[in-house]
Amino acid sequence: MFLRNHWYVAAWDHELRDKPFARTILGEPIALFRGADGAVVALEDRCPHRRAPLSMGKVIDGGRLQCLYHGLEFDGTGACVRAPSQKEIPAAMRAKTYPVVERHHWVWIWMGDAALADSAAIPDFHWLSTPDQWGAKGTVMHVKANWQLIVDNLLDLTHLATVHLTTIGNAAIAEKAESRVQRTEQGVLMTRWVMDAPAPPTYVKAGGFTTNVDRWQFIDFAPPAFLRLHVGGVPTGTGAPETFDGGIHMRNLNAITPETETTSHYFWAQAHNFDIHNPKTTEMVFKQITEAFLEDVAIFEGQQRVIDRDKGPPEVDIAADAAQIQARRILTRLWEAERGSTRAAAE
Ligand code: FES
Ligand SMILES: [Fe+2]
Repeated sequence: MFLRNHWYVAAWDHELRDKPFARTILGEPIALFRGADGAVVALEDRCPHRRAPLSMGKVIDGGRLQCLYHGLEFDGTGACVRAPSQKEIPAAMRAKTYPVVERHHWVWIWMGDAALADSAAIPDFHWLSTPDQWGAKGTVMHVKANWQLIVDNLLDLTHLATVHLTTIGNAAIAEKAESRVQRTEQGVLMTRWVMDAPAPPTYVKAGGFTTNVDRWQFIDFAPPAFLRLHVGGVPTGTGAPETFDGGIHMRNLNAITPETETTSHYFWAQAHNFDIHNPKTTEMVFKQITEAFLEDVAIFEGQQRVIDRDKGPPEVDIAADAAQIQARRILTRLWEAERGSTRAAAE
C-alpha cells in the first residue's frame, strides 16, 4: 500500500550532479536532473518516443534532457523542444513530470495528484540546514524491506536494549523507561524518559558523562513515513525532566521513501547541538548511528524474508507497540481516504 498524495524525499541534493539520476519511487521509475537555472526536474523515466529510459540520456546546455536513443530533447515541463531529425514535434511527445521542491538538502517529490501539491506541507527538517546551530550529517540506505517495517522500528525504541548495545542502547531503555503516547495534529508523539541510569556508549563518547544520566527520547511521527527524534541526556540530578537544556541534544531525522512494496530508500541524518563546528565530532556521531542503523537494516531484511516466505498467523502485540499501533491506524485511515477519493474521481 502506497500513499500517493504526499511529499517524499527523492534524493539528497548532492546526489544530483551533471548527469540524470535514476530512482524508483512508489514503484515508478523517475529521472531526476537539474534543468534551467539549476532547478530540479523529475520526469517519468521513459522516453515518450520509444521508451528508452531518459536517465540514460544527458543534460545539455540550458538544462534540457536529451534522450540517449534518437536525441529528442525535453525541457523542465516535460515538453519535447527539439528533434534532431525533423522540425515539427508531435504534441503528444511529452514526458510525465512530477512536482519537485528542494529543501533542507533534500529533493522532495510529490507522487500524487499534482493539483494537490503544496510545498507548505513539506515537514520541517531545518536541523539539516542550520549549520550555525546544529552539526549534521546523513545518508541514504537502500533496504530490502517494506517501508512500514522501518517506521515500526523507529516508533519502538525498546529494541535499543537488545540490538544496539555497542552504541546507543543499554538495558535501562527497556526496563527503566516511562513512556507515553499522544496523538498530534497529523501523527503520533512517543515520549520516553529513562531516569538515573548509566549512559550508553555513544552518549559517553559524545557527552563525556561520568555519572548516571536522565535520558529522553521524543519520537515525532508524521505520515506517511517521517520520524523526527529528539534524543539526549543530562547528568542525573540537574533538573530533568522539568528542565534539560544542558547535556547533549541530538536529532535523528528519518524520511523513508518506498521504492517498491518490498524495498525502501531510507534517508536519515543525525544532528547534534554540541561541538557543532568540529567535523570530527559530526563524523563520530554519524558513524555511531550508522553502526546502529546497519544493525536495524539486517533485522528489517530478515523480517521481509520471513514475510515473503509465509506471512503466517497475525502478529502478536506487546505494550511497547502502542505508538506503532496508533501510526498504523493513521496510515490505514489515510489510505482508505485516498482510495475513496480515487474511486470517486473515477466514477
Ligand atoms: S527513444 Fe528517446 S528519442 Fe527515441
Ligand atoms: Fe534501531
